[in-house]
Amino acid sequence: MADRLPPFRRVAIIGLGLIGGSLASAIRKHQLAGTVTGFDQRADELALGVSLGVIDEAAPSLEQAVKGSDLVVLAVPVRATREVLEQIRPWLGPEAVLSDVGSTKSSFVADVEVVFGELSPRVIPGHPIAGSEKSGIRAANPELFANHKVILTPADNADAVSVARLKALWEGTGATVLTMSVAYHDEVLAATSHLPHLIAFSLVDTLAGEDENMDIFRYAAGGFRDFTRIAASDPVMWHDIFLSNRDAVLRVIDHFTQDLGQLRSAIASGDGATLLRVFSRAKAAREHFSKMLSGQAYVTNNSDQQVIFHMQPGGSVRGDIRVPGDKSMSHRSIMLGALGEGITEVKGFLEGEDSLATLQAFRDMGVTIEGPEDGFVRIHGVGLHGLQAPRGPLYLGNSGTAMRLFSGLLAAQPFDSELTGDASLSKRPMGRVVDPLRAMGAVIDAAEAGRPPLKIRGGQALTGIHYDMPVASAQVKSCLLLAGLYAEGVTSVTEPAPTRDHTERMLAGFGYHVHRDGPTASVTGGGKLAAGTIDVPADISSAAFFLVAASIAPDSDLTLRHVGMNPTRVGIINILRQMGANIEVLEERVIGGEPVADLRVRSADLQGIDIPEDQVPLAIDEFPVLFIAATCAKGRTVLRGAEELRVKESDRIQVMADGLSALGVETTVTADGIIIEGGQTIGGGTVESHEDHRISMSFAIASLRATGPIIINDCSNVATSFPGFVELAQQTGILISTEGTS
Ligand code: S3P
Repeated sequence: MADRLPPFRRVAIIGLGLIGGSLASAIRKHQLAGTVTGFDQRADELALGVSLGVIDEAAPSLEQAVKGSDLVVLAVPVRATREVLEQIRPWLGPEAVLSDVGSTKSSFVADVEVVFGELSPRVIPGHPIAGSEKSGIRAANPELFANHKVILTPADNADAVSVARLKALWEGTGATVLTMSVAYHDEVLAATSHLPHLIAFSLVDTLAGEDENMDIFRYAAGGFRDFTRIAASDPVMWHDIFLSNRDAVLRVIDHFTQDLGQLRSAIASGDGATLLRVFSRAKAAREHFSKMLSGQAYVTNNSDQQVIFHMQPGGSVRGDIRVPGDKSMSHRSIMLGALGEGITEVKGFLEGEDSLATLQAFRDMGVTIEGPEDGFVRIHGVGLHGLQAPRGPLYLGNSGTAMRLFSGLLAAQPFDSELTGDASLSKRPMGRVVDPLRAMGAVIDAAEAGRPPLKIRGGQALTGIHYDMPVASAQVKSCLLLAGLYAEGVTSVTEPAPTRDHTERMLAGFGYHVHRDGPTASVTGGGKLAAGTIDVPADISSAAFFLVAASIAPDSDLTLRHVGMNPTRVGIINILRQMGANIEVLEERVIGGEPVADLRVRSADLQGIDIPEDQVPLAIDEFPVLFIAATCAKGRTVLRGAEELRVKESDRIQVMADGLSALGVETTVTADGIIIEGGQTIGGGTVESHEDHRISMSFAIASLRATGPIIINDCSNVATSFPGFVELAQQTGILISTEGTS
């Protein structure tokens, strides 16, 4: 801050307790104002403020503190606010910004309106989410706000410049500033801070009251200590907070009391299933919270997490590996397991963000799911009609599969639901599922141009339809078949080209008859799903990166174990073999209705080819890495009939062409494909992955034949489909390192 003008000239802090004192000392330490003046009713605290160096000057009166200050911050107990506002009113300059640090915001706004008759544009309520059980100016700490959040709740008419200055001041203390409405702030704080404090106070009081000598505490262990730490907080401050945030707190107490009552009855009636369901949902939520705190949540948007891949050129690919479980089958295993009757056990589940989003969504709809632990998941199926209404929107992260399959399933439920996703998913077309679902009787609202979020109205009776799919999409087919489980009569779908048939196979595995007649699959509504066991093979789409890697890198010999070889997924092997790749298929077997094999791949001189159009749906996710294979091949490779690639997690034709161009490889982009002249030198450079997992990994593979280092930006989404990619790549000899965390 020193070289720039500080955001304020003279700041008056009224009330030198822990928060006021810490703010004053942070402003001084980081030079966020010319002068910090303090005022406190307690003369000794005020004097201490000067001698401890917390403030520059002690104001003998409120008048002297406020007059001439361009920022006045009230750090007094919430219930003293109105009186202090009355006293400072005559001295507050028209240009001065007025803020506070209280834990409840509607009471501050109400006090300002009573005293000033209006909420001026320069009043900007604030609340630093920081504190400690210590109080008083001696505990003042200039670092108290570093890495903490500060919430500002400016009104619609707030002065933008004043908001920006106050934000700059708080950011200067090391805090992250968020803005939200007063009402939302008070609701959120009632739930996440006020209620936990109330419960802690109440529990400790109840236990202490039962035992006069408080002997009981001798037997209390760490759990009690952690849980009740906040019961040692300042009683006066908290009594203020509860009285001033009365309405929001009462709402959340009622909600909690009701839920506690449900647990009480579950215990009374020996209802272990309810206990297990609530506890495992809470455990998952708590684990999610821990991950959020350490910046690695699976259902966060990754916008503030930067992961960069640094690739060194060259290397060979060798070893014996198993890539993580198949993403498509992992989604479906949770969906059908949840809707089955009884317990389904899944082995080899992909613990990637996409399939975890599906898992979490079912927990949010009341399904008990144990795990995942090392790919093992146990799902306590609730039957086709046992889902419960989720409490809020279901967040599906980056996963188009989850959103499209869920839309079919949820269109038939008795409750309303809303499906949301990250920035990439929010741009993807959902009209392709919404239109046929509407024809079945579903009521669904989408955002502009059929994009997410999807708002699905519950309680609609669906009727089976026949649908001729205009695009070859397994997601659309699966969506309609899932809706068809609930629809009156027969639902049938005809595909223009074969697409992955995991839904059909898994439904059959769960005892639900799927009639298959050439390109048409149909189900009759009204049946039941049994439970089952599912062994998810390794994902051929993840194996694809290594199939190309070992083919293009000299002196390579790699074995990939237990790879899913469903005939609707093996386009990558067919295409690579046609290009001259040396891939041996070993130990072919069928596990749980899906073909599986081990693959041995060795370096080969690849040739460019015209990719047969019938292979496109069978290799739809593998084209980014196939473009790298084509770049390393001799001669021209032409791809046609692949316009679908433009609406995947990114526009995979354009984004790959741009990335290749950044590395000195020129291609010709067409509306429905690309032409790549093989044999061009892949140079070093920086590539943007546009947060598309498969683009990030494809350029990582390109480094094996590059002449210089490659930097790949925005790689955090690799975790959606391939957790552990970096470690596995390193293990096989790919020269990859990362910057940042995901
Ligand atoms: C998937 C189907 C494919 C594929 C996606 C997974 C599935 O999408 O690209 O990664 O699990 O059904 P489309 O069916 O839209 O082509």
